[in-house]
Amino acid sequence: MRVVIQENYENMSKWAANYIAEKIKNHKEDRPFVLGLPTGSSPIGVYKELIKKNQAGEITFKNVVTFNMDEYVGLPHEHDQSYWYFMHDNFFDHIDIPAENIHILNGMAEDPVAECEHYEEMIASFGGIDLFMGGIGVDGHLAFNEPFTSLTSRTGLRDLTTDTRIVNSRFFGNDPEKVPAQALSVGIGTVTDSKEVLVLINGHNKARALAAVVEGNVSQKWTCSALQMHNAAIIACDEAACGELTVDTYKYFLDIERKERL
Ligand code: GLP
Repeated sequence: MRVVIQENYENMSKWAANYIAEKIKNHKEDRPFVLGLPTGSSPIGVYKELIKKNQAGEITFKNVVTFNMDEYVGLPHEHDQSYWYFMHDNFFDHIDIPAENIHILNGMAEDPVAECEHYEEMIASFGGIDLFMGGIGVDGHLAFNEPFTSLTSRTGLRDLTTDTRIVNSRFFGNDPEKVPAQALSVGIGTVTDSKEVLVLINGHNKARALAAVVEGNVSQKWTCSALQMHNAAIIACDEAACGELTVDTYKYFLDIERKERL
C-alpha cells in the first residue's frame, strides 16, 4: 500500500486529481477508462481540480465511464441530498462526460436486489473498474460498508449504523431520523476487484481510522483495511489525518514517497 502524505487538504486534492488525470490521459486501450467515484466532502477538492483540467482542455471525459459507490434508499434524483444530485451538482454538470457513461445506483428501484445485481453486471460488461476513488467514514467504512460488513461483499442493500446517521445528519438539518436508514452500495469485494484503488483520508476526525487502516490488522471492524490485501492501493491523506500514526510509520511513508519522486 502507498500512503501519500500531503501538507493540507488542497495539496491532497491536487495530488489525487493529477494522478487520476494522468491515468485517463495514458489510457490507450480500445475500451473506455472505467472510473469508480465517491460522494462526501472528501472528494470535492478533487472534483474541482478535475473540472479545471477538463475546462482547460488538459483532459477529456468523453471516453470515461463512471460507477458511483453508493446511493441512499428512498431519495429521488432531485432530492438535494441524493448522491445522484450531489454528483451532477459537484462534477458531472461541469465536465464533458456523455450522460450515458454515468452509472449511479438507483435508490428508488422497486427491486433493490435486482438493481444491485445489474450494477455488478454492468461493471463486468465494461471489463471491470480501472481506478476506484473512495473516501471513508470516521469508523473506516468504505462506500456504505459499515463495520462488520464482509470484506468480500458485493453490491447490495445496506443498513446504516446509528453512528453514520448521526455523522451524516449534518446534511439533513442535524436530525439523524431524517437520514435514510438504508443505502445501496458497492461491496468491499467490488472495490478491491478494481485494478487500482485510491482512497482520500483527510482531517483530524479521520485520524483514528487512518491509523487502523494503515497500521491495524485486516479486519471487518474497519472495512477499509481490506485495502491492505490489494496490490495497487493508494491512500492520499493530509497531515491532519496523520495524528494517530506512529512516528515511525509517518516517517517511513514520507521517506519512501520522496524516493519515488527522485
Ligand atoms: C458517506 C459515504 C461514504 C463517504 C463518507 C465520508 O457515509 N457513503 O462513501 O466516504 O460519507 O464522507 P466525508 O468525505 O464527507 O467525510
